[in-house]
Amino acid sequence: MRRVNVAIAGFGNIGREVARLLLERRARYAQVYDADVRLVGVCGSRAGRAGGDGLEPGDLADLEEGLSGQVFVAALAPDVLIEAGPTDFATGGPALGYLADQLERGGDAVAVSKGALVHSGVHLRTLAKANGARLRISGATAAALPTIDLIETGLRGARVLALEGVLNATTNYLLNAMMERGIGFEEALHEAQAGGFAEADPSRDIEGWDTACKLLILANFGLDAGLAIGDVAVEGIGAVTREAVAAWREQGLVPRLVGRLEYTGDTPRASVSVRTYPLDDPFAHIPGKTKALRVETDCMGEILTMGGGREPRATASAALKDLELLLSEPR
Ligand code: HSE
Repeated sequence: MRRVNVAIAGFGNIGREVARLLLERRARYAQVYDADVRLVGVCGSRAGRAGGDGLEPGDLADLEEGLSGQVFVAALAPDVLIEAGPTDFATGGPALGYLADQLERGGDAVAVSKGALVHSGVHLRTLAKANGARLRISGATAAALPTIDLIETGLRGARVLALEGVLNATTNYLLNAMMERGIGFEEALHEAQAGGFAEADPSRDIEGWDTACKLLILANFGLDAGLAIGDVAVEGIGAVTREAVAAWREQGLVPRLVGRLEYTGDTPRASVSVRTYPLDDPFAHIPGKTKALRVETDCMGEILTMGGGREPRATASAALKDLELLLSEPR
């Protein structure tokens, strides 16, 4: 059985869940992929831990200070690095350093946070290619909702003409609450925060940047669109009023915050904006905190994927799907 050493950089809710599930699933990885998968280290902003022969579940409850981020990848030389730190799309954040170090040394990487992929996606892909490494990104592209897999694998025989996605669960919840109960934006947001399903700082969601990042990564990694974040025209939902919602309801229309990529000839154009859909369009029926992606193709028709959990376990499982894809195709 081959040994596969995994390290996790970024140890918040998602990183911890990835670690927990990975340790839980080790026996299955051995059985299905003939791989002895060991978690050899974790590293967060405040704490880290490395274990030569692999960590055990108990080790994770007892993290110690001092495993410096700068030496983390070099010291552990993992076969697979799972990056699950915070998203910083202005600079790429520490995630960029971890991913670049790992790809540069020819190791495979699984990215969960979006910042480094938005900021330096081309650079990271070049590094991966130059060093014979693989970079997988399911966790950063709407996580449990299969999006990048659909584009890369499911639609490989077709040309994608357009992407249209409700890629942010929080804004979908807010717009649904406003539509269904006639409440205003502020009230809907307050309710979502009190219920614990809006981020503490929801500005990136409601201003459309989370959607823009996911769209950009899908476009660049899935379709080689070569876009920068500044190329995406971004609008959020903060200006949606009760009056506008009431008028849409009268007209039988439902609003969604949508990321859209379309082509004029070979030139891609990306935008995030509030669009409205008639009741006979499936986009009018995307429930609560749900995401969806519709892909228009030249010869495989139109495909819609919708749903997926959004709790840490669901996102962590998307990252571990990427790990399994790497295990299933050993280099
Ligand atoms: N806050 C995001 C959402 C999840 O509501 O979909 C992280 O991208």
